[in-house]
Amino acid sequence: MIINTELEYKGDLFPSKIVSYTQEVDSIFFNTDNNVILKVTVLRDSMIRFRFTTKGYFSNDFSYAIDKSQSHGYNNLEVSEEKDHFKIKTSKVSVIVQKHDLRVGIYDLDGKTILEDEIGFHWEENYEYGGNIVKMSKVSRDGESFYGLGDKATHLNLKGKRLENWATDQYAFSKDQEPLYKVVPFYIGLHDDVSYGVFFDNTFRSYFDFAHERKNVTSFWADGGEMNYYFIYGPKMSDVVKTYTHLTGKPELPPLWTLGYHQCKWSYYPESKVKEITGKFRELQIPCDAIYLDIDYMEGFRCFTWSKEYFPDPKRMVAELAKDGFKTVVIIDPGIKIDKDYWVYKEGLEKDYFCKRADGPYMKGKVWPGDCNFPDYTNPEVREWWAGLFKELVSEIGVKGVWNDMNEPAVMEVPTKTFPLDVRHNYDGNNCSHRKAHNVYGTQMARATYEGIKRFAYPKRPFVITRSAYSGAQRYTSSWTGDNVATWEHLWIANIQMQRMSMSGMGFTGSDIGGFAEQPSAELYARWIQLGVFHPFCRTHSSGHHGEQEPWSFGDEVIDITRKFVELRYQLLPYLYTMFWQYVNDGVPMLKPLVYFDQEDKQTHYRTDEFIFGNQILVCPILEPNALGRRMYLPQGNWYNYWTQEVVKGKRELWVATDFDQIPLFVKEGAIIPKYPIQQYVGELEIVDLSLEVFYKLGKEKSHVYEDAQDGYDYNKGRYSYKTFSLNGKDKELIIQQHKEGDFETLYKTIKISLIGLPFKIKEIEIDNEKVSFESVSYDGNCCITVDKDFTELHLIG
Ligand code: NOJ
Repeated sequence: MIINTELEYKGDLFPSKIVSYTQEVDSIFFNTDNNVILKVTVLRDSMIRFRFTTKGYFSNDFSYAIDKSQSHGYNNLEVSEEKDHFKIKTSKVSVIVQKHDLRVGIYDLDGKTILEDEIGFHWEENYEYGGNIVKMSKVSRDGESFYGLGDKATHLNLKGKRLENWATDQYAFSKDQEPLYKVVPFYIGLHDDVSYGVFFDNTFRSYFDFAHERKNVTSFWADGGEMNYYFIYGPKMSDVVKTYTHLTGKPELPPLWTLGYHQCKWSYYPESKVKEITGKFRELQIPCDAIYLDIDYMEGFRCFTWSKEYFPDPKRMVAELAKDGFKTVVIIDPGIKIDKDYWVYKEGLEKDYFCKRADGPYMKGKVWPGDCNFPDYTNPEVREWWAGLFKELVSEIGVKGVWNDMNEPAVMEVPTKTFPLDVRHNYDGNNCSHRKAHNVYGTQMARATYEGIKRFAYPKRPFVITRSAYSGAQRYTSSWTGDNVATWEHLWIANIQMQRMSMSGMGFTGSDIGGFAEQPSAELYARWIQLGVFHPFCRTHSSGHHGEQEPWSFGDEVIDITRKFVELRYQLLPYLYTMFWQYVNDGVPMLKPLVYFDQEDKQTHYRTDEFIFGNQILVCPILEPNALGRRMYLPQGNWYNYWTQEVVKGKRELWVATDFDQIPLFVKEGAIIPKYPIQQYVGELEIVDLSLEVFYKLGKEKSHVYEDAQDGYDYNKGRYSYKTFSLNGKDKELIIQQHKEGDFETLYKTIKISLIGLPFKIKEIEIDNEKVSFESVSYDGNCCITVDKDFTELHLIG
């Protein structure tokens, strides 16, 4: 039931009673006496958009977040009028709109409440800027939990918190610090085993309050723009996240090398230093695929130039690095140095592509090169120009990826750390001020960069990484979490941020391993690497002001630990690539917090440390010094301890002992984990066989392996291989069935199977219903057999 509040909202305005309504196909318009219109659009049976205006008409409907290629459609839509309310019913939910005050309630088909307005939509006129401060208040229930919102450095469960969305260069941010670099105004609610999502697609500075100010109220509001939100029904959290990711878009597959290990520092220069670093990786046999050049590679921090002193012949250097398996990634910032002899500046000026203040002059701000002007990436023509600037870097010099930094946008030596709010933006033809464009500036820069790299790297796939992002940025770019600090607390933060980003549709993210500011101890670096290899983006980066931060900077033990974990990541590349494929195809988050894995189990609702990497590997980092293991929670099911192969029953807390070169890792019973041999970089070796580690289970489990040419676009034409392995374990039998989709032929001809936890001795082996000799499958009498890659059914009989 919707409850009435006695609270006063001074100065706030509310919708009055509904006086008329109309329906246009999937949209229902409710008009109130005081000129408010609520437009309810049924996009799917489980996704409904709510849009309010107080002007009596709607402005142009434009969003950078929404993926225009997404499909809509519902199975059922019924609108009915009752005495005191209207009812909109789909095949999943019903929406009740109160005639008296336009308040909304959403219920499942059994009448159970999913989400109800408290005072609902209200607003305050903004006398300073015009327009409204738009607000929404919902009822928050006892025991309700909240997740999502991108990169917030706070507890995974947001209940009791107030958060702010305003992209900010937040150097050495601390736990609970607000706001940070990214803006993802999307949260997931969970109550009584029902999960739902709300995406407030408003780019102005916005706030979310999850029962912080008032115990039973969740509210969100923005400094301008429209009250415009999408409601997504679960009831499973996985449905909510997938639908949100579908709405705001999925990325293309990245080239496989981007899932390798990356090394970065501010800055590696001159060329001899770069070579020394890459050489050391090969010498120590620590796999590495990418080397980053931070701002000092440029001539006086001018983007698209190279320092002649430090890098006299970049083309040769990049080619030499490539020969050794290293891809070169370079930083490009938005600030363009004001210098009449600098070609990028001259072009930008001539074409009038820089952002302007309200009264006409160009927006001027200090960044690394000194005074700069800034391209208006919200102008499609400017994006096109910017994309073209990458020709030389990519086509001529051979750079493989671009790193976009400082794009909140960051401005130095001003208290606001960014543009003045009066700066004008094109906003794809919807001219506006920086108040509206600020939060999307970074995404539009990354988008323009992506378009450029894609154009010039073709037929290879592009790689872009960004610091700032708004919802939907995942369509163009990966990201990192900005300037963290080398502390144990930040290791905890990094773990949460990556889980949160995954649930917020932006899974291809990592932290600066070891911490950006300050210097990690050997132990902290080792613990960070042990977690970092399980993050979708895996890069060590540091400010370089406090000492060295390469894997060999901390002594032999850490070298060995780094090698061991980076090797494990390289072995798991097919597993990692498969989870990426599921993200790209179905919007499935790559990292799954325990609450996502089992929302029914209340013990998971406040867990922060453990997460599922992909679908079947549980990772729990060590987050404290001097640990000999840790207490942790294992969710439902039986799990193999990866190190000891002991089977442990879940849905309970337990102590897991680990050595310094281990963290608790568990594999789901029945899982089939694909592995490649250790390579020093992606493509170093021709893969001659795929290894499958089979973790026996009494019962059934499905596993998948995605493969393709590892780069290029042939996978879009069906040239990929998606294998499903169905395991069925019995007392004295194990059956593995293989089903393949797609017409990519892997280069390897055989599959090496290692059996873990098999409770019987194999007496007979059948492949595709024919008995085969032990020799023909190289059965060693213990755990390993090698079979033709195209088997349909492998039958082991005890
Ligand atoms: C700030 C970025 O966050 C950091 O990663 C980078 O090293 C510095 N800018 C210098 O470019």
